[in-house]
Amino acid sequence: MLILLVIGCVYAFVLNAQQNDFKFSEKNTWFETILAIKKSEKPGERPALEKKNHPDPYRVALWNFLRKNFNSEKDMLEMSWEERDNIWNFEDKGFSYQQLGRNYLAAFQTSCKERGVPADYRQHTFNNPEDIQKIRRQYITSRNKEYVILTPPVSDTPRINIPLLLGVRPNHPVLFKVPVTGRKPVGIKLLQVPKGCHYDEASGSLVGVVAQKGDYKFTIIAENALGKDSVTVILRVGDTISLTPPMGWSSWSCFGSDVTEKDIRQAADFIVKTGLINYGWSYINIDDCWMNRPSLNDPVFSIKDSLTTKFEAKEDLRKRLSRMRFNESELIGKVRDSAGNILSNKDFPDMKRLTDYIHSIGLKAGIYTSPGHVTCQNYIGSYGHELQDAIQFAKWGFDYLKYDWCGYSLLAADRSVANLKTPYQLMNNALKQVQRDIVYSICEYGWGDVWKWGAQVGGNLWRTTSDIRDTWASISEIGFSMHGKEAYAGPGRWNDPDQLVVGYVGWSKSPRPTYLSPNEQYTQMSLWALLSAPLFIGADLTRLDSFTVKLLSNAEVIAINQDTLGYQGSRMLAKEPVQVWKKKLSDGSFAIGIFNTGDDPVLYDLYFKEIGLQGNWSVRDVWRQKDIKTSGSLLKQRINRHGVLLLKLTPGQKII
Ligand code: GLA
Repeated sequence: MLILLVIGCVYAFVLNAQQNDFKFSEKNTWFETILAIKKSEKPGERPALEKKNHPDPYRVALWNFLRKNFNSEKDMLEMSWEERDNIWNFEDKGFSYQQLGRNYLAAFQTSCKERGVPADYRQHTFNNPEDIQKIRRQYITSRNKEYVILTPPVSDTPRINIPLLLGVRPNHPVLFKVPVTGRKPVGIKLLQVPKGCHYDEASGSLVGVVAQKGDYKFTIIAENALGKDSVTVILRVGDTISLTPPMGWSSWSCFGSDVTEKDIRQAADFIVKTGLINYGWSYINIDDCWMNRPSLNDPVFSIKDSLTTKFEAKEDLRKRLSRMRFNESELIGKVRDSAGNILSNKDFPDMKRLTDYIHSIGLKAGIYTSPGHVTCQNYIGSYGHELQDAIQFAKWGFDYLKYDWCGYSLLAADRSVANLKTPYQLMNNALKQVQRDIVYSICEYGWGDVWKWGAQVGGNLWRTTSDIRDTWASISEIGFSMHGKEAYAGPGRWNDPDQLVVGYVGWSKSPRPTYLSPNEQYTQMSLWALLSAPLFIGADLTRLDSFTVKLLSNAEVIAINQDTLGYQGSRMLAKEPVQVWKKKLSDGSFAIGIFNTGDDPVLYDLYFKEIGLQGNWSVRDVWRQKDIKTSGSLLKQRINRHGVLLLKLTPGQKII
């Protein structure tokens, strides 16, 4: 045992290290240091920086170390290099610490190069505290200038923000909040309400049940002392639900595996407090980790069916499973009752009480599970209990299910489309048997071009890629790679490029500000609107600042996303570094996004005919909610670094 002081970076460590093949020197970088900490652990021992309740304390130790030393709450040093380090997928590749270190370093160097940061940046960063401060200042100062709120103050006169097309299945409960802005009190009246429904004052929602399939047109009027608004809405009673992209909040990007019932209640409360509820945000979704973890002796691992047999022919399930797991015995609990009903864990004492609360304010509730034995975080999945779980979710009152492949890798022989479809079809059959509309969210990271068959297995939405992170590399790659998938989206079937990583995120108990710059956040929100993407806020809603609230409450931007045609926008032009995307809207207009993917601002001339729009057009800046003066067929604008100009073009010239 050797006591060693490592000063290769700006922080010093006292290590109880067994050296093995690791050499410490002043040149050690921080990641080598952490890897050495890991290497020095006795098997099963937990490192000091561990986060409670995480299946891989070592990764968490490394992660926490980075966060602590290179990002304080107020700092937003760009760290997109974290994303390429393979840390989060490392177990699949076997444990070579040196390789992990090399990956990390290579990713960081690439990132420096892309940003035009001097090659010796790394040395400066890790050897000199002042240099860190300098670099922080450089990034933070330049970002602070971008904090411009574009959404204008909300008008005092009423505006109804409900989607104009609502879908429900016959004989299933109707629950649609009527979101309205304007100075309170605002009186709400519904005319020609579909038979079987009424307006519930307490929750501010249309509620009831309709037995007959068909389109039911009704009118909503909102009125206060200053004026009134009215809209005509169609309630479509039929087989398809989620006729506009689902909008809401999910626990994953903020709280990760530390989520509790309190976080979920607070999310619901803050959707109301921040006023987001008035713009159509409605689902409050619990992601992974609301259940217990099974022990290796759990009966789920003894299920014998064609899938397990097929797998066991390949490799012993228990062995493979135990390799996936870490020392977590204290986290194991009773996963099902004696009748096989799934149980929530101690942090979710009463699911029904929770969904009742969510519904009482006109919001909807979402839940998560996996088709495998276990979820991504090794909590119990639905394998062998699919119907029973669907029934339980309906009984508890959930309106949305994210079904996340993850643990099912232990069961699927390969990733052929047939194998990918199997578990999703099975759960779809189960969901069809419950008397409740449950939006079905398929999560298998885009494998097997899921957009081509997700709707066939009943999916209302499907993730198109692996997990999003709050970096430019991640959002631009995921967002812009939606090009070419537009034919597969439409009412009731949406491509899902994952959550909005804005505000405070962090996948842990201690969310921190997003690493996305303000421009990048405008880009994500605008692109997701043009793509008709499901909108799920990944932020801790209890800590929204005014920038983020305004980013998420621009009624004209949201209306583009919620347009009833449900078209997914397409890329019309790509002239490095600019991309122009276009989405046709139901009122005959077009939403256009001009994106600057480059690191410097650009002056860009857009000739409308280049994107298939002949003649003259009136142009509105959607974020600023202001008409723009143009020649009618051309627009000259400056677009920020990683920024966007979101426009609405209406036929006919209107020079202002
Ligand atoms: C996967 C999913 C994420 C999240 C986690 C939870 O990684 O893609 O969206 O649900 O699992 O463990």
